[in-house]
Formats: sequence, C-alpha cells, structure tokens
Amino acid sequence: MNSTLHDCQKLWINTHIATLDPQVKAPYGLLKNHVIGIQNGKITLLSPQQNLDLDYFKGEIIDAQGNYLTPGLIDSHTHLIYGGERSGEFSQRLNGRSYEEISRSGGGIMATVAATRALTENELVEEARPRLEALLVEGVTTVEIKSGYGLTLEDELKMLRAAKQLADSYPVTLRRTLLAAHAIPPEFQGNSNHYIELICNELIPQVAEERLADAVDVFCENIAFSSVQSEQIFVAAKAAGLGIKVHAEQLSNSHVSALAANYGAWSVDHLEYLDQAGIEALQKSGTVATLLPGAFYYLGETKKPPVKLLRQHKIPMALASDLNPGSSPLASLRLMMNMGCVLFGLTPEEALQATTRNGAIALGLGKSTGTLSVGKAADMLLWKIDDPAQLACQFGERSLQQRIYAGEMANV
Ligand code: NIG
Ligand code: FE
Repeated sequence: MNSTLHDCQKLWINTHIATLDPQVKAPYGLLKNHVIGIQNGKITLLSPQQNLDLDYFKGEIIDAQGNYLTPGLIDSHTHLIYGGERSGEFSQRLNGRSYEEISRSGGGIMATVAATRALTENELVEEARPRLEALLVEGVTTVEIKSGYGLTLEDELKMLRAAKQLADSYPVTLRRTLLAAHAIPPEFQGNSNHYIELICNELIPQVAEERLADAVDVFCENIAFSSVQSEQIFVAAKAAGLGIKVHAEQLSNSHVSALAANYGAWSVDHLEYLDQAGIEALQKSGTVATLLPGAFYYLGETKKPPVKLLRQHKIPMALASDLNPGSSPLASLRLMMNMGCVLFGLTPEEALQATTRNGAIALGLGKSTGTLSVGKAADMLLWKIDDPAQLACQFGERSLQQRIYAGEMANV
C-alpha cells in the first residue's frame, strides 16, 4: 500500500481537481484525474490516480464520477447581520435620488442602525439566517461578517456576538470584523473625533481582549470618516493585534488604500477610484484588492475599479458580495463572480481565484484555506461541470453536487 494512503480517512476518486494553488502551473491549478485524500478535516494527499493502488485502502472512497472539485467559496466582505430592510430607498433611487443624498438626509446606513439597535442578539440571528443560508447553499464555506449597524459599544458587541451565534449553527468558518467606524452615530453628530476615540480606546481593546473580531474596518468616505480618522483606527487595530480592512475609494479618492497598505492591511475594498499610487502601495504590502461588483451594479455606478492596472501589478483580487440592505442586497457569491467578469472584465479564472484563494488572504487565512493543497482545510465543492469557467459564466443552475466542510459532507 502506498504510504501516503495511510494518512487518509477518506478519498475522492475519479475527479479533476481545480486546486487554485499557484504552485500548480496550469489554469485553475488543475490536476486532471487525481485523487484527493483527507484526514481530521485537512487535505493529506493529492496524487495522480494511476499512481495509487486503492485495493488495500481501508477508509471510505467517494467516487466523484469525473466531476470537478474546487476549494469552498469564500465571501470575504459581508454585512449580513442587520435589522429591517430598505426597499423604500430602492424606489427613491429609481426616481433619481442618489445613495449619498439619501444618506445625508438620515436614511441609508442610519436607517439600518435604528432597526438593528431595536433587535436583541437572538432576533438579529433569526433575521440573518436566510441570508447566510443563501450563501452556503451556493458553496460558501468561509464567510466574513462585519458589525457596523450598532454604533454604540453594546450594539456593536451585540452584532459580533450574533454573528458567532449564527455561524455556530452551520458548517462554515466565520471571520468577524469590527466596523464601528461605519457611520457617525447620532449621539456624536458634529463630534466624530470623540466617537473615534471611543472606538480606539474602548471598543477595539475590548473586542481584542474577548476575541470578538479578527479585524477592524473603516468606511473612509466624504459621507463617513476621513483618512486621518481612519489612520487612528489602523494604529489602534495594529496595537491590539487585529487585522486591518477598509472601505476605500468607493465614491471618491481619499488615498486611504495606500495608507492602509502601509499598515499592512489584509484588504482594501470597493476601489472604484483607486489610482496608480494606491496600486503601487498595495503591491509593496501584498494587500488584497477586494472588488464589490454588487454595490457597483446596485447603485448604478459608472466608474469601474482599475482592473487592468491591478492585473498588471499582480495585485491579488478578491470578489465579495458586500451583502447589506442598502448598497448590495444580493445574497449570491456566484452572481458576484459573473458580475466580476461582465462588469469589471475579470476572467473566469480570476473570478474563481477571487472567491477562493484571494478571499482567504483577505481574511488573514491564506495559510489555512482557499486552495486545495496538502495541509489546508478540506473545504471542497464537487461540481457537475465540464469546465471550471462555467462557475463564473453561468448563474442560477444547480451544478453543486457535494458541499464538503472540514472533510465532512455538509450540504445545506
Ligand atoms: O459596503 N459602504 C459602506 N457600507 C456598505 C453599505 C451599507 C449600507 O448602505 O447599509 C457598503 O457598501
Ligand atoms: Fe461593505
């Protein structure tokens, strides 16, 4: 018996494996006619099937019948915990009001803040359940959830706890991000610096101490926080040992991407107005550029992120749903893959990289998940397809046959 088979409890045979591993020099990191073995939730073997003598294998064998395995999908930017809904704003925008106008007149994020504050932790969990389930049925195995609709110490902590309670009841890996700097709360209008102090001096240390989040995020924009205030948050996050993410250059260029990159940000997100200097800073720091085509589409934006320049500078690009009630009420990462290609010009291969390997890096999980490689989590999807490009090209079909989380069948 081949010695490496000893390291496997289960094998998937008769499969083509789109590893997404950059070390595998083929499109999609494709290993045709390979076997993948797993033990204790991790990948322990990748081998050409013809090299193995399976007659003596004592574990479980799953026949993939010639179908394709990919890594589990990673939605690295969501706001899926919230109260209420904002379809009224949708109608207003169809009548010509802009997202910025609605926000300045007290709607937008503040409307969701009021609705979120009114709910208990358990109620927030129940409200969010259908949204998370929609992502999981499509093949998401790692999801990021942000706070940011509480904007008080208690309500931000309530959101982060709700995210954990929700994710604990599903086969999914959760990453939580503190986005207390999402909007200036009504209590601090005209006094946003005091709110930033509260975030930096109280909220971030407590969240780090109680391990309630993995990273900190800021909405840096004319209608939210300045780059000076963002930098204060980056300093506090770094001191607390938390990752850094930022909503950057979505509606204007505040140059915060370069600033965040200098602090070693995991990702900078949106990026419609990102410029060459910003891209060069990302290149130096290895920061992921996260593109959010759902918000671009839903808000009817016209300025597109500089995908060609990002590609030229070899910046890892992620795609995420940005699932939220105001700018992207779209609970589908597969739709984002399609939009990433159609609206932003990504290739289908880039779209899959963006929702697996690069999503993992954007969450500080590049070493443990995101590719099908020995030593990484056995989070895998078995698809009835003939080419991995179909995953970005098609939308709405049911080609996912098996959803495997930590080595276990975990169809949702
Ligand atoms: O990522 N840009 C800020 N936050 C969200 C929008 C949130 C909302 O409108 O409720 C975003 O697009
Ligand atoms: Fe967002």
